[in-house]
Amino acid sequence: MPAIYAKAPGKIILFGEHAVVYAQPAIAIPVNKVYATTRVIPEVAGRKNQVHIKAPDIQLDVDLADLDEEHPFAVTIQQVLNAVNLDHLPSLTLLISSTIPIAAGMGSSAAIAIATIRALTDFLGKPLTAGEISSLAFEVEKIHHGTPSGIDNYVIAHQKPVFFTHGKPIEHLEIQQPTHWVIADTGEKTSTKDTVAAVRKLQALDPETYHPIFEQIGEIAFTARQALITGNIDLLGQLMGDNQRLLEQLTVSSPKLDKLISAALTAGAVGAKLSGGGRGGNMIALAPTQNTQSIESALLEAGATRVITTTLNKGET
Ligand code: MEV
Repeated sequence: MPAIYAKAPGKIILFGEHAVVYAQPAIAIPVNKVYATTRVIPEVAGRKNQVHIKAPDIQLDVDLADLDEEHPFAVTIQQVLNAVNLDHLPSLTLLISSTIPIAAGMGSSAAIAIATIRALTDFLGKPLTAGEISSLAFEVEKIHHGTPSGIDNYVIAHQKPVFFTHGKPIEHLEIQQPTHWVIADTGEKTSTKDTVAAVRKLQALDPETYHPIFEQIGEIAFTARQALITGNIDLLGQLMGDNQRLLEQLTVSSPKLDKLISAALTAGAVGAKLSGGGRGGNMIALAPTQNTQSIESALLEAGATRVITTTLNKGET
C-alpha cells in the first residue's frame, strides 16, 4: 500500500477576530504559501495495531498508545475513528510537519489537524467532505483554544475566502478584484486560548462596555465584505484602522504589533492591523499595488521575524 499525503494551508483573519467568538461576522482567507502536511506510511511488516507519530517540528516521536488521550493528535485520531466507525487504525506511521509559524495566529493547529484527518480518511478509503473535515477539526481546536469560533478550521478545510458567522450559513466570497496582503510576524509567540480567555474575562466583568465593541467589529466585517469583493482598498484600509483601534480596546495589541503597524503605514500600506488572537503573533498590511517590496522591507527593518505576501486573486471563491 503506498504512502498517502495530504496538505492544508495556513490562514489569516482580515477582519473580526475575537468578536467572531461572540457570534459576530469575520473574514478570513487561506494562505497557501505556508502549509501543514501529513504523510501516512503503512507498516507492512512488524508490530500489530501500532500507530507511531513523528512530528519533528515539535520534537515529537512517540507511539499513539503513549500519548495522553487529551493530546490533540490523540483527539484527532479518535475523531477520525468515530467518523469512519472503526475502533483502531492499522499499523502505520504518521509523519506530520508544518511551515506555518506556531502560536502566531496563522492557524497552524487547525491545519495540522485537517492535513491529518484528510490523510487518514483518504488512506482508509473513506474520504470526507470539507464540511465534515472542518467539523472534526473543530473538536481538536477546542483542545487547543478553549472556546474557538470555528473560523480557522472552516477556512482551512474549505480553502476559500470566507465571511464567517458562528452558527450561521457561511458565505464563500467571490472576489472580483485582486488585493495584496503583507503578513508580518512579531516573533512573539501568542496563545489564542489565553487571549480569548482574557477577552472573555473583560466582557464578563463589563458587558456594557465590551458587547458594543464586538458589535462595532461585526459592522466593520460586514462593510469590509463588499469592499473586499470589489477591491475597494481605500475603504478596506480605513476599516482596518477602525478594527485595530477596537482590538486595542480589547487589550489584544502589543507594542511590537503597534510598531509593525505603524512601520507598514509609513511605508505606504493603505491599512494595517493585528491578525488572530493578538498580544504577539502576526499583523497584516494591505498594499496599494502588487509591488509590496517597500512595505516588506520596512516591516523587516522594524523587527518582523518573517514576512509573507499573499494575493487574494480574482475568481477565488
Ligand atoms: C483565532 O484565529 C481568532 C480568534 O477570533 C479566536 C477564534 O475565532 O476562535 C481570536
